[in-house]
Amino acid sequence: MPPLRRPSTKLQAALGALQGAPGAPRVRRDPLEDEARFLRSWFERPLVTGSVTPSGKMLARTMASYVDPRMAGPVIELGPGTGPVTEALVRRGIEQERLILVEYNPDFCRLLRTRFPRATVVQGDAYDITATLGALVHEKAAATVSSLPLFTKPLEQRLKLLNAAHAMMHAGAPFVQFTYAVVPPIPERCDAGTYTASRSNRVWLNLPPARVWAYRRP
Ligand SMILES: C[S@@+](CC[C@H](N)C(=O)[O-])C[C@H]1O[C@@H](n2cnc3c(N)ncnc32)[C@H](O)[C@@H]1O
Repeated sequence: MPPLRRPSTKLQAALGALQGAPGAPRVRRDPLEDEARFLRSWFERPLVTGSVTPSGKMLARTMASYVDPRMAGPVIELGPGTGPVTEALVRRGIEQERLILVEYNPDFCRLLRTRFPRATVVQGDAYDITATLGALVHEKAAATVSSLPLFTKPLEQRLKLLNAAHAMMHAGAPFVQFTYAVVPPIPERCDAGTYTASRSNRVWLNLPPARVWAYRRP
């Protein structure tokens, strides 16, 4: 995760609201509430939350653009947080019923269940995807869309996740991952895995700017 820079005005407002600072603006709008939720989660578990703010619309849309709604099967989302990428997937044409959301934070899970009532929300460890989802996924998935902070894990564990996710998906289906880093979250080429990697342009409108990687296995 990149070093914390000076917080944006939005973030400062959210922080003020969180701390109940006198004169802090009353938080009504959902995006600001989500910023506050996120910030709280980051304070409690920085390495698990992986970011101080939810993904912006452009980044979420870029993530969703890698998913083909016509491909059959569920779409698995890892680390949906407050749901910006989930929302982009729904806008892309993925019915909520097809979504399986795996989130570690129980507060985010509660929120996701109210926001996406027809999706399946699983509170659990996405890195152990086979054990977490084994009983739930009965057909090959169309995509796995991950916002997990992968760089907090050793490469071996990232590859294990990639391979386990691919074992649950159709051949050619993408494992989609965003990163704020300049290097890929999983190397483009690596002896330990047979996959091809492609990347988006950097999404400059996101804070911080990010890039999306898609990993496919023939
Ligand atoms: C960088 S945030 C992204 C949230 C959201 N998708 C977005 O783009 O705003 C990472 C999310 O992954 C979740 N997470 C981290 N480790 C996890 C794990 N092992 N299993 C499931 N979710 C996890 C965090 O709770 C957090 O919601």
